[in-house]
Amino acid sequence: MVDNSVGSVLQASQSSLNETTANIDLKRVCILTWGCQMNEYDSGRMLDVLALNGYARTGTPQGADMVILNTCHIRNKASEKVFSELGRLRLMKEASGGRMILAVAGCVAQAEGKDILARAPFVDIVLGPQTYHRLPEMVARRARSGDAVIETEFLVEDKFEFLPEQSSPRGVAAFLTVQEGCDKFCSFCVVPYTRGAEQSRPAAAILVEARRLIALGAREITLLGQNVSAWHGDAPNGGSWDLSRLLRALAALPGQVRLRYTTSHPRDMDLALIEAHRDLPMLMPFLHLPVQSGSDRILAAMNRRHTMDDYRRLVDRLREARQDLALSSDFIVGHPEETDEDFEATICLLHSVRFAQAYCFKYSPRPGTPAARLRFQVSEAEKGRRLQMLQGIVREQQARFNSDSVGSTMNVLFTGPGRHSGQILGRSLYFQPVHVTGPASLIGEEKVVLIRNAHPNSLSGTIIQKGFRA
Ligand code: 5AD
Ligand code: SF4
Repeated sequence: MVDNSVGSVLQASQSSLNETTANIDLKRVCILTWGCQMNEYDSGRMLDVLALNGYARTGTPQGADMVILNTCHIRNKASEKVFSELGRLRLMKEASGGRMILAVAGCVAQAEGKDILARAPFVDIVLGPQTYHRLPEMVARRARSGDAVIETEFLVEDKFEFLPEQSSPRGVAAFLTVQEGCDKFCSFCVVPYTRGAEQSRPAAAILVEARRLIALGAREITLLGQNVSAWHGDAPNGGSWDLSRLLRALAALPGQVRLRYTTSHPRDMDLALIEAHRDLPMLMPFLHLPVQSGSDRILAAMNRRHTMDDYRRLVDRLREARQDLALSSDFIVGHPEETDEDFEATICLLHSVRFAQAYCFKYSPRPGTPAARLRFQVSEAEKGRRLQMLQGIVREQQARFNSDSVGSTMNVLFTGPGRHSGQILGRSLYFQPVHVTGPASLIGEEKVVLIRNAHPNSLSGTIIQKGFRA
C-alpha cells in the first residue's frame, strides 16, 4: 500500500498542482488530491491528458472550468469528506451558471459509483482509477448527452498505453507507477476491491518513462505500487523480470538517479531483492516495509501470511545486506480481536526492530472487507489509547534516529525552496527533510551536508562540499 512517508493519507493536498496559468484561451482545471503518492501521480497523469485537450491547471476551484476530486478510501470517513467538499463545490458550480464540470475520481469513486450521483446529482463525472485516459472522452460525452457519466469498470485495455507521455516536469523527486492493485487480500484492506487485481506495467514502458522523467529534471525516482514488491513485468526482450531486475536496469540508466520503491509486502521480499539492496548504491538505504502488528494471532486474523518472526528475520537479512538500511513501517491498532497481550507484542516488535519512522493507524472498518464482519471489534476509546501509546514510542525512535545523525555528514539532494528565505530543502538518503542555507541554484543537485541540528521531523545543517560553504 502506498502511504506517504510516504504521504500519509487523507490530507487534501494540492502540492504539485498549485500553479495558475494566465493563458485566457485555455480552460482551467483544478484537481484536489487526497491520499497516497499514487493519487498524486494519477493527478499528474490526468493533467497531462487534459493538457492535450486545452486545459491548464489552476490551484483553486474558484472560477475553474472543471474540478476533479481525486479521492482516497483507505481509512476513516473518506466518503463523508468527499460529500462535504462536494457541498462546497456545488455553490461554486451554481455561481458559474452550472458551467463548472465536477468530477469525482479515485477510490471513493470506484467504491461508491452510482451512490455518488444519487447523493450529489450535480456531479457530472464519476471515474475509477483505471479509466483516467478516457477523461476527455467522458467530458465530451457529458456535454453531448447532458447525462452524468460513470466509468468505474476495470478495463481490459491498459490505461498506461493510452495516457500521453509525461509533459510537465514532475520535480527533482518524481514518482513512477509501475504496478497497481493487489492480490494479497489483507482482512482490513479495501485496495484489492478499489484498485483491483495486481497488474504490472511492462519493463520497457517503465524505462521509457524513467528516461523521460530524468530528461525533465528528476534526480530521484520512487517506484510506486500498492504492492510494488510483487511487480513482475514483461522484460524488454521477452520473458519476464522481477523488481530486482527492474531496479538493476534503472540503476544503469544515464543520470545516476536515486531509486526508491514503495510499498512492499514482507512476503515478496525475496533473495534477489535483498541482493539488489546490497549491490545498488543508487537504491536508497531506506525501506518502507509495513508489518501492521507484532502479534502472530492478529497477523493471522489479518491474513498477512507472515509471522512476527518472519518479519524479524527478514529485517536481519536486509540489514546484513545493507548495513546502513533504515526502516519505516505501518501499524494498525485495534484490529478486531486484538487484546492487550497482542498489542504488547506489537510494542515488543517495535522495540526490537527500531524504526526510523512509522505510521500508526486506528483500525477503521471498511465496508465489504472481511475484518469489518468480525464480531470482536475493539472500542474506539481503547483504539485511541493504544494509538497514543504506539505513537509515543514511534516519536521517540524517530527522534533518536534523527539525533544520531547530528555531527555526521550526509548526501542531501535538494528538491525545493526552504521555509525561510535563503533556505533550501533537501532529502537525506533516509528520506529525512534537511534544511540548509543555500542558493536556489542548488535545487536538483546532491551535496554533502554536515548535520548540525535534529528536529522532531527534520534535520538542519551546513553544506560542506568543496566550493559551497554556506
Ligand atoms: N484501517 C486502518 N488502517 C488501514 N490501513 C489500510 N487499511 C486500513 C484500515 N481499514 C493502513 C495499513 C496500510 C496503510 C496504507 O494504511 O497500515 O499499510
Ligand atoms: Fe492492502 Fe494488504 Fe494489499 Fe497492502 S498488501 S494493499 S494492506 S491487501
